[in-house]
Amino acid sequence: MMKIVTVVGARPQLVKAAVVSRIIASHDGMEEVLVHTGQHFSGNMSDVFFREMEIPEPKHHLGVHSLPHGAMTGRMLEGIEKVLTDEQPDFLLVYGDTNSTIAGALAARKMFIPVVHVEAGLRSHNMRMPEEINRILTDRISDILCCPTETAVRNLHAEGFERFPCVISRTGDVMQDAAMYYAEKAAGRSGIMKEIGDDPFILCTLHRQENTDDAARLKDILEGLRTVHEKKRVIMPLHPRTAKVTATLGVKVPVNTIDPVGYLDMIELIRHSDLVITDSGGLQKEAFFFGKHCITMRDETEWTELVEHGYNKLSGTTPDGIRGAVEEMSGRESDFNIDLYGQGRAGERIAALLEKASAKS
Ligand code: UD1
Repeated sequence: MMKIVTVVGARPQLVKAAVVSRIIASHDGMEEVLVHTGQHFSGNMSDVFFREMEIPEPKHHLGVHSLPHGAMTGRMLEGIEKVLTDEQPDFLLVYGDTNSTIAGALAARKMFIPVVHVEAGLRSHNMRMPEEINRILTDRISDILCCPTETAVRNLHAEGFERFPCVISRTGDVMQDAAMYYAEKAAGRSGIMKEIGDDPFILCTLHRQENTDDAARLKDILEGLRTVHEKKRVIMPLHPRTAKVTATLGVKVPVNTIDPVGYLDMIELIRHSDLVITDSGGLQKEAFFFGKHCITMRDETEWTELVEHGYNKLSGTTPDGIRGAVEEMSGRESDFNIDLYGQGRAGERIAALLEKASAKS
């Protein structure tokens, strides 16, 4: 029996784990042990995802959260090392670019446990982002790199990864698997549209540390969103980081804010929105999966193919940049029928890679 320890911690990792855990559970020869670092801990940032998406209960819960980067990553590293010592898995699987990702990969690597990185090869080329540091380091110590896009594969080749003893594969993006699987369930089960009402709206999220922790930048973004909201209502599920920072600065978020929502509600919000404005990585793609244009309030993105095809526009963070991008994207029409992310088959491809690697060892 192949044993896989999977480390999750932050909200987007729960969405990705929902896909891969379901596939692992359907394979006779595979067993998964889930570890939750605790990075995201409130009911609406974590529990709701386990419930709605039917993710198996984590066997280990480390309860590490709300700490500076070094302390958070260090405590996770220590906790995961203990779990790996007890569980002795054949593989360690991590997702994305968070502190939970690098902690899991580093703990396993030093114990010679092969590391599988799902969402490998993404780059923003902005070393001021904690996520960029986490993803570069995780990629470098991973044995199986599951790339969501062709761009991600190219990024790894540009960094000379073919010289390293690792497998690089374009599996596609498990977030497309999730969007396709849960889309049908969302319509029946989500009640969010009753709360929101029928008036047209723009869906917005804002939580990146590079945006929230620079007061001037944050105020610029809020001013941009305020002027957009004057013309069409902007609805923002408010991330706890953004709530905390704005409260500390004593500034109001000048749009319609709601509490963070679960995945099914999020799907419904995207589907019914006219446009998406975000600094999230995942939401840029989810907008595309549901045929919506997106504005990204950053200077660069890891999902460059969306910009190249005109589905996404980088607005930067100035009020004029945000306003201008909304004007430009509002009337745009596009054909969204193009395969950029693997059409919902990424989870199966990842499982196949694990089987192949296990047969070899
Ligand atoms: C993290 C990831 C980021 C990912 C994002 C998804 C890192 C470095 N960043 O950022 O890559 O895009 O998750 O959301 O790992 N908080 C709560 N309740 C919660 C969760 C968080 O109050 O359930 C608070 C924390 O205490 C903290 C703040 O929100 O003060 C930010 O949380 P943190 O875990 O530092 O990172 P995110 O901003 O969520």
